Amino acid sequence: IFIINVKSQPRLPKTHNAAQMCSKERRRSFRNSSGVDAVMSGRRCVSLSDWWMQSAYLDSRMPVAMYTSPGVVLPKMHFQDRQGQMRFAAKLIAGVLDFKSMIDSETLPVEYLGGKPLCMDQYYQVLTSCRIPGPKRDVVVNYAIGKTPPSHITVVHNFQFFVLDVYNSDGSPLTVDQIYVQLEKIWNSSLQTNKEPVGILTSNHRNTWGKAYNNLIKDKTNKESVRAIQKSIFTVCLDAPMPRVSDEMYHNKVAAQMLHGGGSRWNSGNRWFDKTLQFIVGEDGSCGLTYEHAPAEGPPIVFLVDHVVDYMKRTEMVRTPMIPLPMPQKLRFNITPEIKKDIEKAKQNMNIMAHELDVRVLNFTHYGRKFPKSHKMSPDAFIQMALQLAYYRMYQTCCPTYESASLRMFRLGRTEAVLSTTTESLQFTKAMDDPSEHNSEKAALLDKAIKVHREHTHMVSIMHMLGLKMMAIEDLTSLPEIFMDTSFAVAAHFNLYTSQVGSKTDCVMCFGPMVPDGYGICYNPMDDHINFAVTAFNSCEETNATKLSQFLEDSLLDMKTLLEQVSKTQ
Ligand SMILES: *[C@@H]1O[C@H](CO)[C@@H](O)[C@H](O)[C@H]1NC(C)=O
Ligand SMILES: *[C@@H]1O[C@H](CO)[C@@H](O)[C@H](O)[C@H]1NC(C)=O
Ligand SMILES: *[C@@H]1O[C@H](CO)[C@@H](O)[C@H](O)[C@H]1NC(C)=O
Repeated sequence: IFIINVKSQPRLPKTHNAAQMCSKERRRSFRNSSGVDAVMSGRRCVSLSDWWMQSAYLDSRMPVAMYTSPGVVLPKMHFQDRQGQMRFAAKLIAGVLDFKSMIDSETLPVEYLGGKPLCMDQYYQVLTSCRIPGPKRDVVVNYAIGKTPPSHITVVHNFQFFVLDVYNSDGSPLTVDQIYVQLEKIWNSSLQTNKEPVGILTSNHRNTWGKAYNNLIKDKTNKESVRAIQKSIFTVCLDAPMPRVSDEMYHNKVAAQMLHGGGSRWNSGNRWFDKTLQFIVGEDGSCGLTYEHAPAEGPPIVFLVDHVVDYMKRTEMVRTPMIPLPMPQKLRFNITPEIKKDIEKAKQNMNIMAHELDVRVLNFTHYGRKFPKSHKMSPDAFIQMALQLAYYRMYQTCCPTYESASLRMFRLGRTEAVLSTTTESLQFTKAMDDPSEHNSEKAALLDKAIKVHREHTHMVSIMHMLGLKMMAIEDLTSLPEIFMDTSFAVAAHFNLYTSQVGSKTDCVMCFGPMVPDGYGICYNPMDDHINFAVTAFNSCEETNATKLSQFLEDSLLDMKTLLEQVSKTQ
């Protein structure tokens, strides 16, 4: 409790300057706690948010691709050629720069949740930042902090990286048609497809990548190229077309493309997975993004996406005469036999990973968030209960369920876990398929379970435990017994790892499971439909993303039928 009160004290701004206040303070603390220097000098980490960033992300040695970096699938676009791809990418880049202008002038409107202002700091961490591998722990560096913030993005096509300056000498951003011409130049000078996919190195286990990284940047040219990527505002991946699949499979395939690129034969080498923000635009109309999770949660990312999509709708491409711009600089890499070996290892590992992931995107079209609302139920809690029911029907038991909840009502707050499996949720799931239970009783149990879930949303659990554990470790006192207890480990083995990430855009975020025998489930409830992405590992015989999605669809339908029958008889 001490940590929660002292370090995450809510500082509720009186004015619209929350963003400003947060970002300035954060800029100072960011340098201290997450900059390379601070970590090298062994400075103690001071806040719960820093502990969270380290233990959840920077200490993790698993690959970021698929294991921690979420993907976002945008609706399919209606282009099928390179002109369409580049036009779309040019507008998208202009849209992100438009968003960036709000960041630069610190005029981003403050968001509110339930009438309370939210900390806007995460928005200031997603552009111009990059994760850098280290031998035991990684760091995230934000290059926007320095005196001369970078003015370029990186574009990657056919595994070849380019520096694209996106500002004119007078400081104004390039226009859409200027960007288009620059992209065309990049396209035209990266036609060879036999290049070494250096970027695939970033998809490996962090220790392996850490070693390969040191090896890679021994060469001066390579080091400069890597720095240019790290310092860029963001990355745009112009992807090669993926194998065609049926319409039904299309979204599953694109979700996989966003999460891992489809393997070394396809687009996995067309990435720099350490980069915080990478927009992905395929030649076949597929588009979306992937982001490195350490600096920010999903909601700020989809808020940015909503802004960019809005901007793109407003902007038409007009061809205007213009001053010729210099050719974007191609980033060179000298590939030694040792680096070549590292790339081959990374390719093999990526292909195994891509083969491992089962991704299923479900568009539940029977109803959306309006339906539970019409029954005065929270759409989020309603969907969580549907997940509980689906899991129970598939396994005849419940499991530890993690739902991330925002802590952004606190300064620098990240996420907290709501544990969705409760005595009440189990009572509801058991009653639902019990023929001896009356419908009115089932509906009452659902209502109760939803209320309990809402109450839990306001309680502090996992983060609190993390704080206590880290304090014990840092103070070198003995670890309290609870952390060694088997039940503690069992309760934290989250077979269902879930998150609601709502947006205005009809998109869906996706991420991998947290445990080998679990599911990753992300959902975006729209007014009249719900987008779900369900993932599982193919090597686990007990899990099946398609099957769970089917149970989920049935559960949602049965819960609607139940509520309608009960309200009819009342
Ligand atoms: C790129 O190549 C295409 C096809 O060869 C050509 O029409 C176009 O003018 C080139 N664009 C630039 C900017 O060099
Ligand atoms: C989901 O289905 C609805 C209704 O058919 C449709 O309007 C929407 O575009 C679909 N969304 C996605 C992401 O497929
Ligand atoms: C997963 O479930 C689906 C639908 O129930 C089924 O068709 C498929 O064969 C299952 N996959 C595996 C690998 O068991």
